[in-house]
Amino acid sequence: MSRIIYINGTYHAYHKASLHVEDRATLFADSIYEVIEVKNGQRVDEQGHLTRLSRSLNELQITPDFSLSALPVLIKEIIRRNKVRDGFVYIQISRGTAKRDFFFPDPKETPTTLVLFARSRNMYKVENSAAKGIKVITTTDLRWARPDIKSTALVASVLARQAAKEQSAQEAWLYNENEEITEGAASNAWIINKQRELITHPADHQILKGITREGVMRAAAAHNLKYSERPFTIKEAKNAQEAFISAATALIMPVVQIDDALINNGEPGPITLKLRSTFHEFALMKG
Ligand code: PDD
Repeated sequence: MSRIIYINGTYHAYHKASLHVEDRATLFADSIYEVIEVKNGQRVDEQGHLTRLSRSLNELQITPDFSLSALPVLIKEIIRRNKVRDGFVYIQISRGTAKRDFFFPDPKETPTTLVLFARSRNMYKVENSAAKGIKVITTTDLRWARPDIKSTALVASVLARQAAKEQSAQEAWLYNENEEITEGAASNAWIINKQRELITHPADHQILKGITREGVMRAAAAHNLKYSERPFTIKEAKNAQEAFISAATALIMPVVQIDDALINNGEPGPITLKLRSTFHEFALMKG
């Protein structure tokens, strides 16, 4: 559990940390967020996450009332205060607190709300899960039309993940009207075909352009593996040689079952495991 939470310049004990009921994040999901992996006390690909955070703010026309260049210092401090060695940092910025109204509040009277927390993860559990691989279900993509923005409008993803859990799966792969897998509820989706080619959906408006996804591409190139960004169907996925998901919270996690179809006889695939074990060699680590 994260014990210290940062809200707009103040560090609060976990149970004392709260947002106003009329914060735009709670009323409208009028807010964006980022999740950065912490490994051995270092921030993984921090710059990539901060660049995407800035893009998400621009897309929602939220102008923070602080300089984004302050974030690395705050991120380091929240990691330190929460004594996180392996885990993640969560950053959220909302349009601020104002009387409920669909129009934007006047930014001069409405400071944005900045929240940070950091949490440790049980790496033993994560590694155990990676050794076994995970099951995913496929379900319709019910999200809004701009999942490329990392906004906190996540209720469709919550429902998809819950549906996965109820079918003893760990992730839901979302598909569009062409029965193409776009991405996971909170991860990017990958398959590897019989020709050892990695395939993932193009980074258009239908998916979040994952920072880990970019790391996978760097790792693949370093291992002389071909990858392509193109849509793939549910059928293609179920016939894949290997499959995996990528996200700052899961890294590269092997997928061994898609609905009722076993992938690689229900075992994590060798290419996936190689990418997973070497991933951090190709990531930008900041201490
Ligand atoms: N989710 N796609 C979606 C819809 C996501 O929510 C995420 C990450 C990703 C992977 O992005 P990245 O590699 O930059 O983490 C793709 C975070 C981890 C979350 O919501 O907890």
